[in-house]
Amino acid sequence: MGGIAVASLALAGFGAAGAVAAPGNPGQPKYTAGDEGGGDPYFPYSGNGGYDVLHYDLDLTYTPPAASPAPIEGDLDAVATIDLVPTQDLDRFNLDLRGLDVTAVTVNGKPATSSAPPAAGDEVDGAAFWQVQDDTARVWELTIQPRPKLKAGSEVEVVVEYGGTTTRPRDIEGFLYGWVTTRDGAMVVSEPEGSMTWYPQNDQPTDKATYSFEITVPEGKVAVANGTQPKPEETANGWTTWFWDAPDAQASYLTTASVGDYDLRDAYTSSSGVPIIDAVDADLMSGNLATTNASLALQPAMIDFFESVFGDYPFVAYGSIVEDDSVGYALETQTRPVYSRVARESTVAHELAHQWFGNAVSPELWQYIWLNEGWASYAEWLWAEEQGGETAQDAFEGVMSIPDTSSFWDVVIGDPGPTGLFAGPVYDRGAATLHALRLEVGDDDFFAAAQLWLERYDDGTATSDDFQAVYEEVSGLDLDAFFETWLYTPEKPVI
Ligand code: ARG
Ligand code: ZN
Repeated sequence: MGGIAVASLALAGFGAAGAVAAPGNPGQPKYTAGDEGGGDPYFPYSGNGGYDVLHYDLDLTYTPPAASPAPIEGDLDAVATIDLVPTQDLDRFNLDLRGLDVTAVTVNGKPATSSAPPAAGDEVDGAAFWQVQDDTARVWELTIQPRPKLKAGSEVEVVVEYGGTTTRPRDIEGFLYGWVTTRDGAMVVSEPEGSMTWYPQNDQPTDKATYSFEITVPEGKVAVANGTQPKPEETANGWTTWFWDAPDAQASYLTTASVGDYDLRDAYTSSSGVPIIDAVDADLMSGNLATTNASLALQPAMIDFFESVFGDYPFVAYGSIVEDDSVGYALETQTRPVYSRVARESTVAHELAHQWFGNAVSPELWQYIWLNEGWASYAEWLWAEEQGGETAQDAFEGVMSIPDTSSFWDVVIGDPGPTGLFAGPVYDRGAATLHALRLEVGDDDFFAAAQLWLERYDDGTATSDDFQAVYEEVSGLDLDAFFETWLYTPEKPVI
């Protein structure tokens, strides 16, 4: 797919293209095109308007690369069945999909015909679908024009058949993400908007949905996704199908379906009964395997500890996927984080804490990333202190010992920009912000407000202002100056 018809996708012009007024029939619905963006200024073409997804059923057949020689490319052949509800009367709507070819689309069982992208403002006859793939502009869209048109509030089933060669996609900063093809499978880590590299969807945290997976891989390979296994894998004719169910509301960037030569371990639970299922690559180097095993053995105790601080673990299951390949970071994929080459204790604490902060409560826009990374980093401090290591106060003083002339203090963590999402200060100044807040409101209010925050926005999304409001409500303090200083002032705060 080449760079085609980008002009027709200019955000301002697009909505009008599909608008169909009903002249002389004011009582009739007026069907319009759903927006091709979800409204996040950091990633204007991620997410889509006009509908709300309830459930994704992903049926994936994946052939990993041949062992040698390079290039590292796999083959994906897939069917996504998407249950959604239009939030407006829809003439057309978009799904996000990057680098894969769509071969068939049905909407409520009615097939649409493959078509070329129309020029701006042009009408297309009948039920149709088309793709725009522009790597330079980072615009990746699948547009579907259903016939009949869709009424707001109705139940709609969209089936998309798609597939193609899988490679090693990169995010806006150049980091590997999305469906990262590995020598023995795939490492699937999609923050912030990489899940469109492997299934068609509404790629924005505000549209959470439930998931089910059927992943077919060559016999001997293990496929691991979010949630639990509703039934054992099935093998026939040299292929094994793995089944996973993720019944908790989940943001698309937190979806995984990793494939590898994993050792699947499912024999343990936290004391509160959370089942833990790990998948550890059989090819880890021995030192990394020993470190990983020691860290994973602490997961039940970590769940116990974080439940005592943050409240009940929010999902049906937990566990870790440890890859022998590396993207240079770990990701808190929901119920089952993915690690690069080794799972260290502090990283395991970090990714577990994200299940509360980031996953159960997600950022409404990517600018609020500090609420994820600050909390997960602060949870590392709390876990270290609990284990008799450095105290949170000492870790805080460590951050505050960074000289005020350092560029560390230049990052505005409350709005770090799309290429600053994972900058060090988002993590460390984020954690220090939380510790400073704790010093400001006192321990009791600090932890009570954290729990209220998690209860109030559970299964949803929220903003930095929502966070401030909860802390003001619990403490009775005006925290405007505090948050202005810590989140929005590119200087070292004076304490
Ligand atoms: N959220 C992940 C973590 O804190 C980091 C993801 C980094 N992503 C990236 N594209 N650099 O563990
Ligand atoms: Zn993190």
